[in-house]
Amino acid sequence: MSEHTSIHGQWSSRLMFILAAAGSAVGLGNIWKFPYIAGENGGGAFVLFYLLCIALVGIPIMIAEVMLGRKGRQSPINTMRSLARSENGSPLWALLGWAGVAAGFLILSYYSVIAGWALAYVARSVAGVFNGATADGVQSIFTDLVQDPERLLAWHSLFMVMCMLVVARGVRHGLERAVRILMPALLALLVVLVVYAFFEGAFSTGLAFLFQPDFEKLFFRCETIGGVRQCDFTGDPMIVAMGHAFFTLSLGMGAIMVYGSYMPKSSSIGGSVMTIAILDTLVALLAGMAIFPLVFANGLAPGVGPGLIFQTLPIAFGSMPGGQLFGSLFFILLVFAAWTSAISLIEPAVAWLVENRQIGRARAAIMVGVTVWFIGLGTVFSFNIWSGEAYQLFGKTVFDLLDYLTSNIMLPLGGLFIALFAGWVMQQPSSAAELAMKPWVYGVWRVLIRYVAPLLVIAVFLNRIEVF
Ligand code: PHE
Repeated sequence: MSEHTSIHGQWSSRLMFILAAAGSAVGLGNIWKFPYIAGENGGGAFVLFYLLCIALVGIPIMIAEVMLGRKGRQSPINTMRSLARSENGSPLWALLGWAGVAAGFLILSYYSVIAGWALAYVARSVAGVFNGATADGVQSIFTDLVQDPERLLAWHSLFMVMCMLVVARGVRHGLERAVRILMPALLALLVVLVVYAFFEGAFSTGLAFLFQPDFEKLFFRCETIGGVRQCDFTGDPMIVAMGHAFFTLSLGMGAIMVYGSYMPKSSSIGGSVMTIAILDTLVALLAGMAIFPLVFANGLAPGVGPGLIFQTLPIAFGSMPGGQLFGSLFFILLVFAAWTSAISLIEPAVAWLVENRQIGRARAAIMVGVTVWFIGLGTVFSFNIWSGEAYQLFGKTVFDLLDYLTSNIMLPLGGLFIALFAGWVMQQPSSAAELAMKPWVYGVWRVLIRYVAPLLVIAVFLNRIEVF
């Protein structure tokens, strides 16, 4: 295998790498998940801590992942194995690649079901179902959908087929084309929604919720029961914010590493990563600014959970001029955002199968896709026949458990080990040569990757464990 390119191909330019990695980063995490977890965890302080995690943990680890991928030029499993060898580390580092593959399967299994909701909403907006709909009407449309396992299964299956098709076609033909036009279109439509929320929603209340920090909410969950306010200590908001920093940037499981392995040698890693991280954060904040003004204007609760955008945005589309068109466009773009993320979730596994099992991309994509489809049944049923307590563990459904386990535990742990490898195992001259940064930038990165990022991840974990 050549030192300089991967057997799977290479992005045609640095811009294509940025678009593909941004396509992976920007997804349901930004538009569907960020608003609802910000809502569940009290808003402002949560958002601030999330931004802190992006800056101090996410960006340095993303630089590390791209660097390792580009140096190794293979699937994450084989990259970790070969880098461990050349940097005199233990062969056990390959386990990090395996853990990433497992996390990718589990994440895609529920990601695909939620993407299925978005697909269903494309059909509903095109048909004009939301025209003139009230908050109650929109809510019952959502409930009807998730309570019907057959419909969820059909949409989940369709989305998995879409993923397999693109992954089978490979790096250039499959992935590059889609992201070029769709990313800018998504951004433009989000701006339209924010403008709508500014004129028609409770804009200042929404913004205050999103950006005014109430630090108590990071540590305590308070309820007023019978006129008495009760507060319990909780480590959850912090671990959810940190977990989401990993999730939204696609870190800790090899997706960014495998995309880095297709990056041309001459491109700057630091600059590309900054662009991706800023774009990703911008999309999440815009989504929040579009959604919360609508939540408050319509008397909805910010903490309703995973249905949040599906119960708010249709109200806006239902009443704005041209709403049927904008609504359809929005959900189409949401599907594309999910699609470009989903393919990066299975690319590490597919690349490994092609390298080690000598099979073609198409067969590898089908094998992985069918496995993930099957695991996805757990999430499909979480919203209907398995929603009852009999099917819950720690008060969580299969979907809740998968989400919690992957975002809040597997990705941060994966990221922690990536940081330790890049900062402590990899020799300084190797990382300095691969990153080719200005000396002071490299110096800052090295402090962040060796000390700040690992310690912050460990601290947030310990804080949560103490609460148990
Ligand atoms: N970053 C994607 C999103 O925000 C999800 C994702 C996680 C993709 C991990 C790849 C790897 O939707």
